Amino acid sequence: MKFVRFIMKNAALASAPKHIEHFSKFSPSPLSMKQFLDFGSINACEKTSFVFLRQELPVRLSNILKEINLLPDRLLATPSVQTVQSWYIQSLMEILEFLDKNPDDHRVLGEFVDALVTIRNRHNDVVPTMAQGVIQYKEVFPQDVGTNQNIQYFLDRFYISRISIRMLINQHTLIFDGTTNPVHPNTIGSIDPQCQVADVVQDAFHSAKSLCDQYYLRSPDLVLQEINHKKRNHPISIVYVPSHLYHMLFELFKNAMRATIETHEKRKELPPVQVLVSLGGEDMSIKVSDTGGGVPFRRIENLFSYMYSTAPAPQVGDGARPPLAGFGYGLPISRLYAKYFQGDLQLYSMEGYGTDAVIYLKALSTDSIERLPVYNKTALRHYLVSHEADDWCVPSREPLDLSGFKVAK
Ligand SMILES: Nc1ncnc2c1ncn2[C@@H]1O[C@H](COP(=O)(O)OP(=O)(O)OP(=O)(O)O)[C@@H](O)[C@H]1O
Ligand SMILES: [Mg+2]
Repeated sequence: MKFVRFIMKNAALASAPKHIEHFSKFSPSPLSMKQFLDFGSINACEKTSFVFLRQELPVRLSNILKEINLLPDRLLATPSVQTVQSWYIQSLMEILEFLDKNPDDHRVLGEFVDALVTIRNRHNDVVPTMAQGVIQYKEVFPQDVGTNQNIQYFLDRFYISRISIRMLINQHTLIFDGTTNPVHPNTIGSIDPQCQVADVVQDAFHSAKSLCDQYYLRSPDLVLQEINHKKRNHPISIVYVPSHLYHMLFELFKNAMRATIETHEKRKELPPVQVLVSLGGEDMSIKVSDTGGGVPFRRIENLFSYMYSTAPAPQVGDGARPPLAGFGYGLPISRLYAKYFQGDLQLYSMEGYGTDAVIYLKALSTDSIERLPVYNKTALRHYLVSHEADDWCVPSREPLDLSGFKVAK
């Protein structure tokens, strides 16, 4: 019986390329925060969600699988990337099993929730596993700018796609598991229609602070200010996924604390980390300011690179407590969380003084719409053309010898 199942599973996997080809022809359908909410509150219908997801998840998985295939061969061939790719294919095939099942059958709906939970667990370690693949590749092969740009372009799209797939899975499993959240009864799945921004700031700050205390035996304090332009003197709230906001703030606080401590090592009193939360008509912005010495302007874009960190790389699966700085994924992944609902994350630094990190989110739930990669000719071109020469001159570090100066190129 086990053997028969093994054969059947292999036969199903063999047909994967055909399915990937089919579903990657569709564009993903971005949902707005408002649609997520409406779906989970007034019209919560498990059947509709099931019918939507059994098509939409294969579309999102197949779109990104096409891009995985365009990675440089030697990166694609690493065991880590092979593992990640096999997880994606297996999950795709498991969802496709529901395509011809009856949405009116309660057992089918229950099995679907179970399948989604299995898929979510399978994909838990995608980020460190992928990061390991990139490290292995980086160690063995000399880097060229074109390949780095390819990998950066791919990983931004791959991770934002992953965020979106987990968002869909979380909404369905949380809303239709038949229970309400005892701690936050008003949340709709993972969305809080009245996410109190200052509360999330405090939570994230305290987690980063205790990590910092463990590591450095001291930590800076927080000074928090809110400016609500819409409703003066009222705490600021937005429709958002608190866990996403927490993730971004936690990363920014860890960085701000590390920089503050390392810059003011000799001082008895540490300068505080200051946070300003501001709500306007269009944007809700959060500025995290430190006086941790700043970063040279030339390096700012590097900080968002997946190929760059100033901290030593931690080992995957090393059970030690989470480090204050690790893969160098804190900033790039946080920026993706902000971009996922049409926001952004930017750094403004003054070398010699300190850094302001600003998270921009949409103030209105109708503007917070998923930002999703789509596999098409434009995307394909990004993987193909980046090996061309730069169209800006590279300044030479050697002194110019103009003795034999000629005009022709
Ligand atoms: N506020 C800051 N002040 C000074 N340098 C900073 C600041 N924020 C980030 N950096 C620099 O940017 C680098 C990248 O930050 P990022 O958070 O992406 O990765 P990391 O902190 O090295 O590792 P982790 O993945 O654990 O966050 C840091 O190593 C640090 O050198
Ligand atoms: Mg960090």
